[in-house]
Amino acid sequence: MGILKTLRSVASFSMPTLSRRKRRLARAANIADMRLIAQRRLPAGIFDYIDGAAEDEITMRRNSAAFQQYEFVPRILRNVSGIDTSTSFLGHALTTPLLFSPTGFTRIAHSQGELSVARVAARHGLPYCLSTLSTRSIEEVAAVSNGPKWFQVYVWRDRVLLKDMLARAQASGYEAIMLTVDTAVLGRRERDVRRGFTLPPKLGLGTIVDGITHPAWTWDFIRHEPITFSNIATSQGNAGTAVTLSQFISEQFDQALSWDDLEWFRANWNGPIILKGVQSVADAVLAQQHGIDAVALSNHGGRQLDSAPTPLDLLAPVAQATGGTLPLICDGGIRRGSDIVKAIALGASACTLGRSYLYGLGAAGESGVEQVLSMLTEDLERTMSLCGVRNISEITPELVSLVPSGLI
Ligand SMILES: Cc1cc2nc3c(=O)[nH]c(=O)nc-3n(C[C@H](O)[C@H](O)[C@H](O)COP(=O)(O)O)c2cc1C
Repeated sequence: MGILKTLRSVASFSMPTLSRRKRRLARAANIADMRLIAQRRLPAGIFDYIDGAAEDEITMRRNSAAFQQYEFVPRILRNVSGIDTSTSFLGHALTTPLLFSPTGFTRIAHSQGELSVARVAARHGLPYCLSTLSTRSIEEVAAVSNGPKWFQVYVWRDRVLLKDMLARAQASGYEAIMLTVDTAVLGRRERDVRRGFTLPPKLGLGTIVDGITHPAWTWDFIRHEPITFSNIATSQGNAGTAVTLSQFISEQFDQALSWDDLEWFRANWNGPIILKGVQSVADAVLAQQHGIDAVALSNHGGRQLDSAPTPLDLLAPVAQATGGTLPLICDGGIRRGSDIVKAIALGASACTLGRSYLYGLGAAGESGVEQVLSMLTEDLERTMSLCGVRNISEITPELVSLVPSGLI
């Protein structure tokens, strides 16, 4: 009895859980842990489609590593008893400076796909950007989300189809479009090349073995309706499966796209236009001159041009060249709340989540996305407290400095 009393005074007992995945989820401390859980649940080809990037993946690694180049200059004795992470973006009040980046073929990670991510975003009042290549349609997502919604546009050669999608997005209450401009051709993702992975995945012996050894994913996949490129299927009268549509899509990327085409978008879209994939100071300035409402400094998470500059490194020079008046989104490599603080200090108005939420979705569906978001928002609040800043406007360039060379 005495021993038990002594033990109880220093330890609290929790009910054991039988599911290994649930135990791992309960113990996950950060996004890297969520990534590992997703890696266990997803077939290898699917995990690599999400986790991988172009060629040597230099840019993808640097997107995250760039944050380590900076350290904080924390301030003390500043009464941080009430931290306020709210901000605004394009006239919208946000609870925290985060947005959900568009990802194509999201249901490959979990059957609920875009619906789960859009629901989580809406619950927290954060914008969710639906991809042109989504596996739930513009209308299906609008039906589950009364939160702010944006539509990401890949510019097709077929402008009639494009016009139809823009009209559908407008009619469904999407507020802004993100024009992705870093995808004249598709980047070479060598993990996919090695695995022979395609979208949709081809059914070969390898795929079947991969499926058998990942039963939780396979069970979820086969119990739900087939995955297709829902937006394109809807525009074409639900005519296609993912297999028949993928060939059509690969022929549709318009390599002739230029600054002149922005006029067409202005004529066909009534709302803010955000350019996604700006990768130089010169182009950010051009975007501003063309009256673009905001830019996402982005290299597509390193999935397009390898050795492209990182969004974080572009922030300060772009903010300076555009006079601090063009809203900047830092898109790529965000894995911690401290990353968000550093990006804001260097000039970002908001940061995006790409793979971070896909790891959550792949690990545990909607609750995994919730878990990822709460990890990041708790991280953000804690970092702000420890830095001595009470609100987003107090996160200024003086809060960060480059790590002395040789110490990274
Ligand atoms: C699996 C996957 C699919 C993506 N699909 C799209 C897409 O359809 N359209 C687009 O503009 N960007 C797409 N992206 C890029 C993301 O929007 C975002 O730029 C990138 O993920 C940010 O980097 P991060 O993953 O390090 O956060 C995709 C990224 C991933 C990982």
